[in-house]
Amino acid sequence: MNIGIIVHSQTGNTLSVAEKLREALAQAGHTVTVDRVEAEGKPDGQPIKLRRAPDAGKYDVVVLGAPVHAFSLAPAMRAYLAQVPPLKGKRVAGFVTQQFPFAWMGGNHALRQLRRACEAKGATVCGSGAVNWSRRSRDRQIAELVDRLSGCLAP
Ligand SMILES: Cc1cc2nc3c(=O)[nH]c(=O)nc-3n(C[C@H](O)[C@H](O)[C@H](O)COP(=O)(O)O)c2cc1C
Repeated sequence: MNIGIIVHSQTGNTLSVAEKLREALAQAGHTVTVDRVEAEGKPDGQPIKLRRAPDAGKYDVVVLGAPVHAFSLAPAMRAYLAQVPPLKGKRVAGFVTQQFPFAWMGGNHALRQLRRACEAKGATVCGSGAVNWSRRSRDRQIAELVDRLSGCLAP
């Protein structure tokens, strides 16, 4: 299967999770691309402009990854999902990373936003999860997330 991991990451945390997922999916025999969403620096209050917006249509299935910003999905990923063409029938999984130790501190809300945006485009979200960066169990969280998302993407 041709899998796209479409990821926004400012300081590398989300990207590092994307890379672990890429390794697991590639080991399972899939063609996997980590494809970055990048925003232009913006003066405060101005709408986000994307300088890189991957074509989700070229992948059989898609994973979306982004950080939590201000208890919400990072604005660059929201902007990306707002402009992405319909994802009708496409299987999608999503994850977020956040600094705070519990998913209820923004992660759950961000995942709900991601799920709603994908479903509004006609995608089916098969799984999602948050990684809490400040937790000692972070590596285990990442391993479990990778297992879960790999399983739902390529059952
Ligand atoms: C502007 C901004 C707002 C943030 N807001 C939150 C937040 O509400 N809750 C949280 O847990 N972490 C928050 N963080 C921390 C990031 O979610 C966390 O460090 C994440 O793993 C960064 O991912 P990245 O390295 O891929 O950019 C915020 C970070 C930034 C820069």
